[in-house]
Amino acid sequence: MKKKIIGVILATAMFATLLTGCGGSSSETTANTDNAATEEAEQTEDAAPAEEAADAADAAADAAGGDLADKKVGVCIYQFSDNFMTLFRTELENYLIEQGFSKENITIADGQNDQATQSGQIDNFIADQVDVLIINPVNSSSAETITDKVVEAGIPLVYINREPDASEEQRWADNGWNVTYVGCDARQSGTMQGEMIVDLGLEAVDFNGDGKVQYIMVEGDPENVDAQYRTEFSVKALTDAGWEVECLSDQVGNWQQDQAQSIVANALGQYGNDIEVVFCNNDAMALGALQAIEAAGRTVGTDIYLVGVDALSEALEDVIAGTMTGTVFNDHFSQSHSAADAAIRFLNGEGNEYYIGCDYVKATQANAQEILDMVK
Ligand code: BGC
Repeated sequence: MKKKIIGVILATAMFATLLTGCGGSSSETTANTDNAATEEAEQTEDAAPAEEAADAADAAADAAGGDLADKKVGVCIYQFSDNFMTLFRTELENYLIEQGFSKENITIADGQNDQATQSGQIDNFIADQVDVLIINPVNSSSAETITDKVVEAGIPLVYINREPDASEEQRWADNGWNVTYVGCDARQSGTMQGEMIVDLGLEAVDFNGDGKVQYIMVEGDPENVDAQYRTEFSVKALTDAGWEVECLSDQVGNWQQDQAQSIVANALGQYGNDIEVVFCNNDAMALGALQAIEAAGRTVGTDIYLVGVDALSEALEDVIAGTMTGTVFNDHFSQSHSAADAAIRFLNGEGNEYYIGCDYVKATQANAQEILDMVK
């Protein structure tokens, strides 16, 4: 049922790509732009409705002789306490079981946001001779080391959520390794955040009437390409609409609600009514921002705007209530299903594309209830 609704929503999703950012992040983002630009075409082609992917997985499981129950799956998550990755890993486990894996053969490890801890977990999975690994790296820059040891052990590998860089992905292709990445293109989510602000109209957003939009940015982990792209492309959507922008503050909240709350509280203390828009790279941080906004006596939709990414239930409820301007659905169903399907294809002796994408979906007051019904 959920799969069907997602298919319909994805079919109506807009796909757009633009450039730029604010303040300190621009040099980090530049390095990755070419990489993602070359992937965009592949991503658009590869994005398939979850239903089709599920059918493909059924076929793969049948072809594998229905022996998935005997296969051992090792899953590494960068940090269990991350709200979005909690939705992702729960759906991943459920879907793996639906596909025929047995629960006791699926082991999910919490990297506790520490690469050394996660690397030890990967070593243990290799020693345990798991049949396939699904890895959400703590640091994407460790991917080369991780890939080397996993490939050396002859275990197929599916990276999720934190994309290794272009040269690493090229290595998989050049060597014909059983390694792939599953994720959404974060440029799209950033663009959608900016577009939701542009759709309000400059007059509505420019509260102080100075002809430009003053904003603050709260970034996720700066090593993560999702944070880099969302920071860059959200603002670029405004400037591409011909709007003048002014960045008052751009700080790292590490995807965390409490960190964002204090960043935004301080920024509101410093810049007060000059802040017209608060961009947060994810919903956890947008929820923290909202706490700070309300504590400062400001009202979203009346004297300030606020956007996040993920479409967490709480954020969708805020969008419905008007206390958050909008969020972007980060489709953990599609991503977790695609990751499991890719793992099954590897187990079945089939190859995978080296990049498997999916689409984000804007969530505004117009469709937030529909998305909430689907994710709940
Ligand atoms: C999500 C964040 C999450 C991060 C983890 C992003 O795609 O939007 O909420 O913290 O992934 O890597």
